[in-house]
Amino acid sequence: MSQNKYYITAPIYYVNDKPHIGSAYTTIAADVVARLRRFSGDEVYFLTGTAEHGTKIAESAEKAGKEVRVFADENAAKFSLTWDHLGIAPDDFIRTTEDRHAQAVEKFFLKLKSSGKVYEADYEGLYCIGCESFKKETELTPEGLCPLHNKKPELVKERNWFFKLSEYQEILKDKIEADEIKIEPFVRKNEVLGFINQGLEDIAISRRTAKFALPLPWDKEQTIYVWLDELFNYCTAVGYGADEENFKKFWPADAHLVGKDIIKFHAVIWPALLLAIGEHPPKKIVAHGFFTVGGQKMSKTLGNVIDPNDWVDKYGADAVRYFVLREVPFGQDGDVSEDKLKVRYNSDLANGLGNLFSRLTNMIEKYLGGEIAEIEKSAKRAEIEDALTLTDNFKFNIALEKIWEVIAWANQTIDKEKPWELAGKDDAKLKSLLNDLAAVLQDIAFGLAPYMPETAEKIRAGLSAEKITKAEPLFPHIE
Ligand code: MSP
Repeated sequence: MSQNKYYITAPIYYVNDKPHIGSAYTTIAADVVARLRRFSGDEVYFLTGTAEHGTKIAESAEKAGKEVRVFADENAAKFSLTWDHLGIAPDDFIRTTEDRHAQAVEKFFLKLKSSGKVYEADYEGLYCIGCESFKKETELTPEGLCPLHNKKPELVKERNWFFKLSEYQEILKDKIEADEIKIEPFVRKNEVLGFINQGLEDIAISRRTAKFALPLPWDKEQTIYVWLDELFNYCTAVGYGADEENFKKFWPADAHLVGKDIIKFHAVIWPALLLAIGEHPPKKIVAHGFFTVGGQKMSKTLGNVIDPNDWVDKYGADAVRYFVLREVPFGQDGDVSEDKLKVRYNSDLANGLGNLFSRLTNMIEKYLGGEIAEIEKSAKRAEIEDALTLTDNFKFNIALEKIWEVIAWANQTIDKEKPWELAGKDDAKLKSLLNDLAAVLQDIAFGLAPYMPETAEKIRAGLSAEKITKAEPLFPHIE
């Protein structure tokens, strides 16, 4: 057993609305790896939370006719509850409106100022409130719209403070090429390197006209650009400027999980800022693709969202966790829908895993008096270990495919060997067959535990009872 620290993060979500299945995606993925690392003995810190500053949230609150604080509190609670509902168990849930964060960000900015990498200048640019970021004209559609939000960015002219990102071009390129800052999947690494090679421009780190943001410590007429405030949450949570010992222990982060739309913030701006204040950049950044609905990105701003809570109520948390990580290869875009979830539920969960568990426990009750022998190592241990390694490398869909190959193998073995025909004829063979299959199913449960914690526990408990009895269906069929 290793005794390493493992610091994994999911993004902190904007509280302009409640969570949707796209926001649940990153958080489920991070939860799976956090659970796996906890099993293997690591000291895990899994962080997520909410981003609560900025114009986007202020405008949404106004539209909802609510005071910003109240609005943010309500939505932050919805995120936290939804994660709970989905079996997601972070070690910390940070909100950017907390005092601990304001204090850490203030220290961070003072350090940044003293690095000599900031200066004041006039700026004119196109700002997309949906993205909370400035856009180059080349990033817009021919009609001048933000491609992610289908909206025209607003022209902003103001005097701001800037960070000399341009000075970090070579060093970032070297670190990313050498995988010192590892970007996965490979296409995203190339995309980031391509972006860096086009030349990095300095970035504005403050805004004069933005509402609801943290104050810039040395210029009270300016507020901190929300994205920098948000990125710094990863340092606040492990004690930057407050608990140096804890910070030293957990920083740098081992893995930041993000959607592909926010990769540049994490792989370019964030490491450069950390280098400027003398801290290590994150070790790894893993970007996933988008869930689409009929080919279009699902987003709060576009209003085509699926509420994960509805799916959890109907199918259970484990089924939803399984579906999102199995259906779309991590890193690629993919369409999701309730119909697709139903297909996977009935075929993979009810017929595959559920059927294996109920028929096996039934036969153990009937033919072995409910008792099984302990087996050192199941016939499929190596396959399950492969699946766990794949999980640790964020290859969730392949890991699950492997586990389902083992499930299919076990079901086929039952069909082929027909234990019911062995009864009374070859009881020794019947006994060893059922014992072997029970050991395989125990291993399956072990491989599934990070993905489907409740189901894995039901299987484990079912197979470790003193007298095993036919189990209730894990996943009742759905019409
Ligand atoms: N507040 C920033 C993140 C700051 S992290 C220091 C933000 N918030 S967000 O709420 O807009 O999005 C959070 C995450 O949700 C992003 O990783 C984004 O990619 C992800 N998703 C939003 N819509 C999504 C889909 N339709 N599909 C998959 N992921 C999606 O950005």
